[in-house]
Amino acid sequence: MRGLVKTESTDQTVAAGRTLGSVLKGGEVITLSGPLGAGKTSFVKGIGAALGIHPENLCSPTFILRGEYRGKFPLAHVDLYRLDSPEEVQRLGLFEQEDPETVLIIEWPERAKALLPPDRLDIQLTFEGEDKRALHFSTAGVFSAMPGLGLP
Ligand SMILES: Nc1ncnc2c1ncn2[C@@H]1O[C@H](COP(=O)(O)OP(=O)(O)OP(=O)(O)O)[C@@H](O)[C@H]1O
Ligand SMILES: [Mg+2]
Repeated sequence: MRGLVKTESTDQTVAAGRTLGSVLKGGEVITLSGPLGAGKTSFVKGIGAALGIHPENLCSPTFILRGEYRGKFPLAHVDLYRLDSPEEVQRLGLFEQEDPETVLIIEWPERAKALLPPDRLDIQLTFEGEDKRALHFSTAGVFSAMPGLGLP
């Protein structure tokens, strides 16, 4: 399954995240790739908002590798930008979903490609202009059989 969403402001990217967040059933793995400033964390704030997590609490986890939040489902927000080596993912349990309902969101997934859970929603963000971004959705594993995910 593939989909494309175009946004023209930060708020629209947050709103797109909220739309996705509102159809999550718990336990999903979502990766967000794209250059610095593409809007990955803005999109996560929208997902969090849909789960009842205040966007101000959901800061960029760049310096903490993994942030955990309690909402409708537990949310784990991982940012691998400063990962030193892929082995750290296992050593620190960055991809663990102790609770099967934990929604796991991974920024900079290419830093630990071989270790990514197989069933994922992958989202690539690209710059299309100053405030314009494109969000390219694709699915891997069981998600490919989930047309009800609410994507365009
Ligand atoms: N259409 C848009 N969507 C998202 N962000 C936008 C958009 N237009 C402008 N921006 C701005 O771009 C920046 C995106 O920052 P954000 O932290 O969400 O990106 P990021 O991809 O997480 O970056 P990093 O890799 O540094 O963590 C913000 O300053 C935001 O206001
Ligand atoms: Mg970020």
